Amino acid sequence: MNTLIATIAAYLIGSISFAVVMSRVFGLSDPRTYGSKNPGATNVLRSGNKKAAIATLIGDGFKGWLAVWLAIKYGPQYGIDDAGVALVAIAVFLGHLWPVFFRFVGGKGVATALGVLLGINVWLGLATLATWLIVAYAFRYSSLAALVASVFAPFYYGLLFGADEILFAVAAMSALLLYRHSGNIANLMAGKESKIGSKSAGAK
Ligand code: G3P
Repeated sequence: MNTLIATIAAYLIGSISFAVVMSRVFGLSDPRTYGSKNPGATNVLRSGNKKAAIATLIGDGFKGWLAVWLAIKYGPQYGIDDAGVALVAIAVFLGHLWPVFFRFVGGKGVATALGVLLGINVWLGLATLATWLIVAYAFRYSSLAALVASVFAPFYYGLLFGADEILFAVAAMSALLLYRHSGNIANLMAGKESKIGSKSAGAK
C-alpha cells in the first residue's frame, strides 16, 4: 500500500511541468507553441531567456531527484524496498512525459531522468551528465547528447551496482527517452535538428 501511495505521489510530482511554469513566471510564450514545441529546458532556451531555461532544467531535475531521494531515505521504514524505489523512479519520469496536470502532454524526460539518476546515486548521475556534456560540447545537439547519455546510463548503473530492479527502471527510462526523441532522431538524420543556442522564431 505504501509503495502504491509513493508511486502515485511520484507521478504527481513528475506531472509538474517546469517549462510551462517557468515560462509563465518569466512572462514568456508557452514552450508548447514554438520551436520543437517540447516543454523542456532546451526548447525554453530557444526563447532566448537563459535564466528561464536554467530554472526549467533545475526544476525538472529536482523533481526527479526529490522523488527518488525520499523513496531511498524514508522508504525502508514504510516497507518500500528496491522494487518500490524502481517504481517511484519510473513514476516520476512518466509524470514528466505524460503529466496529468497538462492534458498528458509532457516533455522528453532528459532533465528529470538526470535528477532520478542523481537521486539513485550521485556518481551514476555525474557520469551520465558528463556523457551529455561531452557530446553536447562536441556536436552542439542537445538531443544527440541526451540520446547517447541515455544509452550509457544503464551500463553505468550495471557497472556500479549490477543487475537489480533499479537497473530495470534505468533501462526503461532510457528506452522511453529514446522513444520520445524519435522526431529528433529523424531531424538529426535529415540534418534538420537545431543546434544548442539557436533561437526560435515565434518565441518571446
Ligand atoms: O531536452 C530534450 C532535448 O533532448 C531535445 O529537446 O526541444 O530539441 O526537442 P528539443
